[in-house]
Amino acid sequence: MSREYCCITKVYNFSAGHRLYFKHASDEENLRIFGKCTNLKGHGHDYYLEVNITGDIDSETGMITDLCELDNLVNGVIEGLDHKRLDMEVPFFQDCPPSGENILNYLWIRIKPLIRIGNLHHLKLWETRNNYFECFEEGL
Ligand code: NI
Repeated sequence: MSREYCCITKVYNFSAGHRLYFKHASDEENLRIFGKCTNLKGHGHDYYLEVNITGDIDSETGMITDLCELDNLVNGVIEGLDHKRLDMEVPFFQDCPPSGENILNYLWIRIKPLIRIGNLHHLKLWETRNNYFECFEEGL
């Protein structure tokens, strides 16, 4: 039996620079694996993050979640990336390339446990106007 549910999406943005490479690979290997994203001086993106929350509508507020609280916690997490050169300044990306997938993983594992009202259903990270990455919790 299907059950309808409501969700809300809020959009946040931040800017960051990155270079994709493996420290121990040669320039040729990095070029083969990462293409122009391995350019030595890096490049930047204006990222847009969509945060989608599902949950029951509170009978008093008429809302699924507390939007002020959501803004505060998401902005707090994004602060760790905003206007940073990800591969140089963010310790998380010392061990893995700051690809869209890994940036999304960074955001998911930090935002998910902070959501106290409603459930984090998915995150969508726009890297350019032509590509985005999505992360869902299995089974939802
Ligand atoms: Ni890039």
